[in-house]
Amino acid sequence: ATVKSELIERLTSRSPVSIIGTGSVGMACAISILLKGLSDELAFVDLDEGKPKDYLVMANPSLVIITAGACQEKGETRLHLVYLLCKLIIVSNPVDTLTYEAWKLSAFPKNRVIGSGCNLDTARFLFLIGQKLRIHSESCHGWILGEHGDSSVPVWSGVNIAGVLLRDLISDIGTDKNPEQWKNVHEEVIASAYEIIKVKSSTSWAIRLSVADLTESILKNIRRTQPVSTIIKDLCGINEKIFLSIPSLERRVLPIKLTAEEEKELQP
Ligand code: 2OP
Repeated sequence: ATVKSELIERLTSRSPVSIIGTGSVGMACAISILLKGLSDELAFVDLDEGKPKDYLVMANPSLVIITAGACQEKGETRLHLVYLLCKLIIVSNPVDTLTYEAWKLSAFPKNRVIGSGCNLDTARFLFLIGQKLRIHSESCHGWILGEHGDSSVPVWSGVNIAGVLLRDLISDIGTDKNPEQWKNVHEEVIASAYEIIKVKSSTSWAIRLSVADLTESILKNIRRTQPVSTIIKDLCGINEKIFLSIPSLERRVLPIKLTAEEEKELQP
């Protein structure tokens, strides 16, 4: 390879991304993907004919992000024919249920369909832990798993700063007994979406960053572990085929160790 061919190759490399649903979340995701330079070819599809439509670019996307709040109508499901080589990220709520439905309808292998799930809850959690400790959130590690939103599960047993487990410092962290009420951090995570919705009727800016991160992981293949919604049958004591968030690497789940209480909380 020459410098020129490498350069041109890089300049012209395509990672087409299709976004289904051009509401506030879809458009916010698009802006983040463009700002991060992850793709220069975006296609938008929306049921509303007045909004942008471009099926040509849909022919072979690397990634399809579904943010639409309504299901595809009869006669429009031909879209699934062009999904054959791509991966799907479902963002629409209720995200875990809709990820399951998308997986079923698409007939994709399970490692090609993920929901944005608790990637956002986890980012909010680490941000709030960082604020409470006055430590940058990137130096705070931990997970929120399970169902995105109200019944998500904070894995207090694993929260650590530089490998120092907070539970080793305060054994009752995250429980009602804890005088510092760390439990409130998770409650704040749950409340945050409701507060934003109260003020501006929908959330879109935080989820867009979360989706841009997931898009980056997939398109650049950077092997990041992230809590996304995926099938967790036969894991963590769950026997049903359901989608919940669990730490995943390239859409394969990692064998996380939970305490008995955390595992119980995770049950559907
Ligand atoms: C969020 O957590 C509402 O699921 C949306 O921001």
